[in-house]
Amino acid sequence: MRPYVIVVSEVSVDGKLTLYRGASSKELMTLMDQEAYRYLHEIRAKVDGIMVGCETVRTDNPSLTVRYAEGKNPTRIIPCSTANVPLDANIFSKDAPTLIATTQRAPQEKLEKIRALGAEVLLVGEDLVDFERLMPLLYHRGIKSLMVEGGASINWEFIKRGYVDEIRLIHLPVIVGGENVPTLVGGEGFKSLKNLLHLRLRAHFKRGNHLITEWEVVR
Ligand SMILES: NC(=O)c1ccc[n+]([C@@H]2O[C@H](COP(=O)([O-])OP(=O)(O)OC[C@H]3O[C@@H](n4cnc5c(N)ncnc54)[C@H](OP(=O)(O)O)[C@@H]3O)[C@@H](O)[C@H]2O)c1
Repeated sequence: MRPYVIVVSEVSVDGKLTLYRGASSKELMTLMDQEAYRYLHEIRAKVDGIMVGCETVRTDNPSLTVRYAEGKNPTRIIPCSTANVPLDANIFSKDAPTLIATTQRAPQEKLEKIRALGAEVLLVGEDLVDFERLMPLLYHRGIKSLMVEGGASINWEFIKRGYVDEIRLIHLPVIVGGENVPTLVGGEGFKSLKNLLHLRLRAHFKRGNHLITEWEVVR
């Protein structure tokens, strides 16, 4: 058993997640209007859990809380193999529960500091966080729906394992360009036609000035 997974992302017309590799996407997000933020936060308010990769915590320092809509904050789940996450990161705010999924490689001392901040630590994996173990664990803890908000590496990890049920995109009407700028999905890629992930367009509409597309994964 695993949570129902919705990948949600803000992307430029050329599919980029940020302005350049290593840049916080918060700068690009300043192009989003209030209505688009409300759309994003309405989804956050409906799910049990929200996940971003550790690199997104380090570069964007997101709060992952519900602020532009009514509703409760989901549990924040951060896969981070060596628990290398700043102790003053916004994900440790008291507004919502936080779970750091990490591995045997994480220093005990760091884990103690994370626990002292009120966050929970789950040891799942030896080298990298083992999503095959993490997903049923989350499900049995009541995380029946999970929103994955990137970045590119984590999106790929979910997509390659067939763990994604839906993708919802907020399109930013700009081109960013750049060979090495992270796009919606990173990793090695499927490389062959027979392995591609197929999607069905379920809805498209405007919120504020933004096109929203909602896609279902075809199994
Ligand atoms: N536009 C948007 O909606 C949006 C949303 C989110 C992020 N972003 C942007 O995306 C960029 C970050 O994306 P990213 O692809 O570099 O990083 P990411 O997907 O946020 O995080 C990847 C990191 O997760 C950790 N991790 C733990 N277990 C893993 C596993 N099994 N497999 C893979 N990674 C694992 C690794 O860090 P450790 O080695 O420390 O474990 C890895 O480097 C930033 O520029 C950010 O601004 C944009």
